[in-house]
Amino acid sequence: MNTTAVSFPNIAFIKYWGNRNNALRLPAADSLSMTLDRPSVEITLSDADRLSIRSFEADGKEKILTEKQISRWKETLDLMRSSLGTIGAEGTLPETLSLEIRSHIPPSVGLASSAAVFSCLARAVQGFISDKTRLTEEQTSVLARLGSGSAARSIFDGYAALLAGSGNDIDAAVGKQIADESHWTLYDFVIIPSTHEKKVGSTEGHALAHTSPLFDQRVKDITERRQPQCIDAVLRKDFELLQQVVEEDALDMHAVMESSTPPLKYLSEETHRILREITSLREERHLPVLYTMDAGPTVHLIFEESALGEMKQFTDIQKQKRCLIFEAKVGKGAYLK
Ligand code: PMV
Repeated sequence: MNTTAVSFPNIAFIKYWGNRNNALRLPAADSLSMTLDRPSVEITLSDADRLSIRSFEADGKEKILTEKQISRWKETLDLMRSSLGTIGAEGTLPETLSLEIRSHIPPSVGLASSAAVFSCLARAVQGFISDKTRLTEEQTSVLARLGSGSAARSIFDGYAALLAGSGNDIDAAVGKQIADESHWTLYDFVIIPSTHEKKVGSTEGHALAHTSPLFDQRVKDITERRQPQCIDAVLRKDFELLQQVVEEDALDMHAVMESSTPPLKYLSEETHRILREITSLREERHLPVLYTMDAGPTVHLIFEESALGEMKQFTDIQKQKRCLIFEAKVGKGAYLK
């Protein structure tokens, strides 16, 4: 028996940063994102007589996994089994399995590879056990969340939220679709100023979030205002509101990061240069384009179709300034092949 799933990264409009329970990746606040149409990750799960986890680059070359990476895969599979146990599906996912991961995501460019990878694993598990248990999309998103919080959102196509919920049950935080892929065609042009490995990964970063004096206010602002505004902006396709709330949230997350102990500084001089250039271009040309940054110096430019020509020109100029460019748009979430 073998099952193959395909999945993609997402770009957060309202960022997930900080957990109320780190071990179970239960977030402190809601988040919201757009699932991208590329680059893809593919995972094949097959029956085996021992646990084997192998990872391959886009060109087919095997990538040797570090001890830390192998532990994360094992821990995630264990957590997935616990979660399945709570819904009466214990024993459906065997201890011995072969897992083959094929990623087309360039390493450490600021695209959320963990979101693509763990949503892909969750979808593969859902397919693998489907003759024994039928998982809902919500239950599948919980499996994804156990590998990486943001992965819960890549289960869905289009626009999706991760709802924080409350309490410490393993399934207390779930993914939910807000609107499908055909609802609003938004693009994401990714400008990558540096391909250096990021210093502190998001798993470690989430654990530091609560040390920032700005963190409690961030959770309050997201819960009371930004998440509902962002959902509203997506549903009404109100780009002006989207721009205001997404940029506010990204800058707020970076303020939390930079004021945590120890401080996490992900944005570089190059990030700030790109932000200055895009802000003055949009003012000059009245373009529907907004910026956002995750845990790295990479800038994501999100825009409507009408800005496509101008954005192609802008990213061409960035190429001359030695940035890498990656072009994507809204896409579908994790699926079975
Ligand atoms: O899912 P994680 O643990 O890799 O965290 C994602 C963190 C951000 O990318 C910075 C924000 C987000 O919501 O995607």
